[in-house]
Amino acid sequence: MKEIVVIVDGGGRGSVQAEKYAQSPLVNKLIAIPGNDWILYKTTNKEVEIFPALKTTDVTAITKICGQMKPSLVVVSQDNAIAAGLVDSLAEAEIPVLGPTQQAGKLEWDKAYSRRLLSKLDIPQPKFKVFSSGKNGINYILDNPNQDYFIKASGLCEGKGALPARNKNQAIEAILKMKRFGQAGKTYLVEEWLKNDDGTPGEEFSAFALSDGFNFQILGTAKDHKRANNFDEGENTGGMGCISPHPNLNKETLGKVEEIFDKTFSHLRKLKKPYRGILYLGGMVVGKAGKQTPYVIEFNARWGDPEAQSIIPGIKNDFCKLGMAVLNKDLKNLKIETDNLTRVVIAGVTRGYPGPDLTYTNKEIFGIDQAIELEEIRFYGGGLKIVDGHYFTPKKPSRLFYVVGEGDDIWAARTKAYGALKEVRIPEIGLHYRTDIALTALSKRHPV
Ligand code: AMP
Ligand code: GLY
Repeated sequence: MKEIVVIVDGGGRGSVQAEKYAQSPLVNKLIAIPGNDWILYKTTNKEVEIFPALKTTDVTAITKICGQMKPSLVVVSQDNAIAAGLVDSLAEAEIPVLGPTQQAGKLEWDKAYSRRLLSKLDIPQPKFKVFSSGKNGINYILDNPNQDYFIKASGLCEGKGALPARNKNQAIEAILKMKRFGQAGKTYLVEEWLKNDDGTPGEEFSAFALSDGFNFQILGTAKDHKRANNFDEGENTGGMGCISPHPNLNKETLGKVEEIFDKTFSHLRKLKKPYRGILYLGGMVVGKAGKQTPYVIEFNARWGDPEAQSIIPGIKNDFCKLGMAVLNKDLKNLKIETDNLTRVVIAGVTRGYPGPDLTYTNKEIFGIDQAIELEEIRFYGGGLKIVDGHYFTPKKPSRLFYVVGEGDDIWAARTKAYGALKEVRIPEIGLHYRTDIALTALSKRHPV
């Protein structure tokens, strides 16, 4: 019998999961929806099929295809698919599925709901107000003008819905921009800008837990670099690079992070919305020097991208067995084994990303085959296209690929990753990447 695993994802996060599932001796065939060219051509020698034209929100079509293919497991890892109810639809069709239901995933797709739930559980988070009219939000800012805020659309906005505001005028401007997000911005939040008590920025982190609804295990932590350019300048992107494990989290903070996951999963279970799958806690450690504590910036109902590329390769467990343990509510009896290496991921993106500049689209990328051959390197495709063994930038500016360096420490992992990136080039300087990934981690050595 052919054991089939379906992965619903199209980015680098899909590529690393595809590699991991394909490594399982239980898997004979891999299907990715929509998938990408890397998954199709470079992930495995096993049979692979992708559905590039299929939208991850097309619940009816995906359920129909999965019904015909009879997979052993469908892994839903894209937020918009979870919000559209794909997990619910597959479960109803009695197809084994890994991922939170629409209601459990509300933690990500309804930020106002998520904040209220955290309040109820007394979990530290920024002070916030929820508004559904521009006028009320603006009046609030006019009454409280001397603060820095984050103005956030409550719904899903592909990571672009959080707008920083350093003064009253920027806050009002951000509120007026909420209209651009359509339905997702109809309800929005005015949030306190979290900082340390002395005004310095907090330490951002992401932590990932896998839950079977009853028990959970933390699979890893990472430090993301979200802005497009060096030294955290430029637009927010999905992530330009990261380090795992996070270099600056102490044992006490990790204990508090575990408590946050525990309270959240227990509460959802009580609400009869048990959370099954990966929960991403985006947090920030802030407070008084020596007394800092982790606050929740956001929950996401999925792996991070590129955090997945930095954590998943280090997990030694068979991912099919992990998935089955979640479905059988048997996670408690499974020991997560990791290789304890440090990984640094750097995203190679089309110059201009995430903006709309099309100058460097449809250009050939050279040197990838040489980079892959280097030792202690992993490579995962994102938006890049592969035609007859040649690599190209796609029609839209995108995160093209991810180079992962691995080693015993940040220095070693970072050196490997940048060494491999040197091999890759798009003539006329079309490739962009940050040259400062993991740099502050090398100089900052004060765990919080
Ligand atoms: P988000 O889209 O919610 O992930 O926010 C994007 C980035 O904005 C986060 O990674 C943080 O760097 C920053 N951010 C969001 N909300 C806050 C907040 N309340 N205080 C401080 N920084 C924030
Ligand atoms: N790397 C950030 C995210 O996946 O949302």
